[in-house]
Amino acid sequence: MGQTTEHVDVRLKQLDQADWVAALGDDWSSAAQVFDHLERNSHHVDAIREFPWERVLAERSTVLDLACGSGWVTGLLSARPDVERVIAWDASEAQLREMVPQSVELVGGDISKVETVCGFFAPLPLDDASIDCAVLTSAFHHAERPGEVLAELIRVVRPGGAIILANETPHPRVTMLRWILGFSAAAVVNSLFDRLHLTRPGHMAADHILYDDRLGDRVLTMPQWRRLFSRHPVSVEMMDSGLAPYRRSFRAPGRGQSNLTHFILRPA
Ligand SMILES: C[S@@+](CC[C@H](N)C(=O)[O-])C[C@H]1O[C@@H](n2cnc3c(N)ncnc32)[C@H](O)[C@@H]1O
Repeated sequence: MGQTTEHVDVRLKQLDQADWVAALGDDWSSAAQVFDHLERNSHHVDAIREFPWERVLAERSTVLDLACGSGWVTGLLSARPDVERVIAWDASEAQLREMVPQSVELVGGDISKVETVCGFFAPLPLDDASIDCAVLTSAFHHAERPGEVLAELIRVVRPGGAIILANETPHPRVTMLRWILGFSAAAVVNSLFDRLHLTRPGHMAADHILYDDRLGDRVLTMPQWRRLFSRHPVSVEMMDSGLAPYRRSFRAPGRGQSNLTHFILRPA
């Protein structure tokens, strides 16, 4: 008794980092580590490097990289002579502040062309037809209200411009149903046999959501993508990159993958 212990409150510090990156742990707090992971374990960077950018970028393009994350795509685009300005936009202040400048440097981009905006998917406080090309890589499926986001993108992109929803993985409906059934069966088995160490994902979160490591993302079937596009005045070109999201060495056993797919939308 009488002895005092030092009390340290780290909550303020944590608040500053309470975002997607922090949720993934310290290893993800450096742009180099994120980029290294993507290059070593996935094909996401290859798919963006191989994308035919010359088809969608005009001279002196203003590009919006919406939900830019660590900013490696911003960096690659800023290095292009046909890009004059990149607006790197994300809900995560920490990523914009800490990681985007690092990523731009890492991939040989031009930071003088980059401006960062901390904001959500929608509404986009940008003028009508003020953007030549809007790019969302591995990002559009995070939108809770995809229709609202697409409507905003169509508004801010100029006629003749393009909206690129890149590195998506649209799944056939049957594949999706197979996963859902397998996952639900695992959840039932785990709860019936009181399993704590799960052999495969399959339990319920406190808010009664079936938990899976895909949480946070919304995996859409091909028919869902089609329905979304059919409701908006856009022409759609679907491009199969021919690349699986993750390299063989990194794939979870038994996890099927659809190829990384790009949707090129042109406002009508
Ligand atoms: C999987 S990451 C993709 C990042 C980057 N585009 C890439 O290809 O590496 C998804 C990004 O979406 C952002 N995000 C999620 N929900 C958002 C929202 N409602 N508004 C804006 N950004 C959001 C996250 O902060 C995260 O950076």
